[in-house]
Amino acid sequence: MKVPFIDLKIQHQKINQELKKAIAAVLKRNDFILGQDTALFEQEFAKFCLAKYAIGVASGTDGIFLGLLALGIKQGDEVLVPDFTYIATANAVSYTQAKPVFVDIDEKTYNIDVKCLKKAITKRTKAIIPVHLFGQAANMPEIQKITAQYGLKIIEDAAQAHGTSVKLNDRQWHNTGTLGDLAAFSFYPTKNLGGMGDGGMITTNNERIYKKILMLRDCGRVSKYDHQIIGYNSRLDTLQAAILRVKLKKIAFGNQLRQESAQLYNQLLENTNVVTPFCADFSSHIYHAYVIRVKNRRNELLAHFKKKGIGSIVYYPIPLHLQGAYKNLNYKKGDFPITEKLAQEVISLPIYPYISKKQIEYVAQTIKEFYR
Ligand SMILES: Cc1ncc(COP(=O)(O)O)c(C=O)c1O
Repeated sequence: MKVPFIDLKIQHQKINQELKKAIAAVLKRNDFILGQDTALFEQEFAKFCLAKYAIGVASGTDGIFLGLLALGIKQGDEVLVPDFTYIATANAVSYTQAKPVFVDIDEKTYNIDVKCLKKAITKRTKAIIPVHLFGQAANMPEIQKITAQYGLKIIEDAAQAHGTSVKLNDRQWHNTGTLGDLAAFSFYPTKNLGGMGDGGMITTNNERIYKKILMLRDCGRVSKYDHQIIGYNSRLDTLQAAILRVKLKKIAFGNQLRQESAQLYNQLLENTNVVTPFCADFSSHIYHAYVIRVKNRRNELLAHFKKKGIGSIVYYPIPLHLQGAYKNLNYKKGDFPITEKLAQEVISLPIYPYISKKQIEYVAQTIKEFYR
């Protein structure tokens, strides 16, 4: 049996006609840059997140970068970033000339450890970027308390969390995208909501931030040839928006299918020596990735998967503080023990809408037989 790590074909086949129609409509209008579908998708995505504003940008990375600029982050500032994330989170901070300051993660949720946060705060700290890693939200209730106490800004990195919701108190659940000053989403093709190229979105409830980002993403423009600030070319193109509008209608169902697949994996892997994902009571989980931990023989298991026709990936094998790109920050091995340990133990198993029960059973069986 073959179990690819991800199967986009099977998802696209189901909506092939709708996709073709959406693309054809753009070709007919030729409004390729900031066209009708971009504006409509922004409205629809804002509604999906229950946010006041959404601004389409060229990528999730740009979403974080432009978000930081809109908050006034600059050289000399420090921004707290979890050590265990995709490098784009930290890169976006570096683009502003501010310094990313890494923070270790919680061993159960794999998200930034709120117990380590306070220790990392200095006079220069201006913001934190909690990453909702693998589809589960960071501990936003605690992070909101800390940022309120220290007067810090929050940029949610929601690249992997389209539709995750968070319990703020006994009465209130909020979607990612509205839990800080602003949030950045990625529409990289493999994301839960993915386009057919790069794309991203910033959401916010703050009108001033909204207006600033409208300028920043489009050459500082306030009207056709009136440019009030130095901005960037970071627009979500109309074709991507048209495709994403079709896919947005399916995201709730797609997330539900992922949750069902995760439940099945959980059951099948119970009482084995792999650690299955932990779900905190303050967040839902939309399983952008289904990440297990294995205490030993990880590389052998990865090779065994390959032999058995199973796709798997290690998200992420190198902690940010040990990346060559951040050598200049002078971190060393041992600085963030939990991230370092997890980087040695995690494996992401295949999960995507329409993966079959048989495929999941085959993956689980392969793991059990391997460790028998
Ligand atoms: C956690 C996280 N942050 C940021 C990004 C960057 O998004 P993009 O690839 O759209 O620039 C990604 C995408 O892979 C991500 O997973």
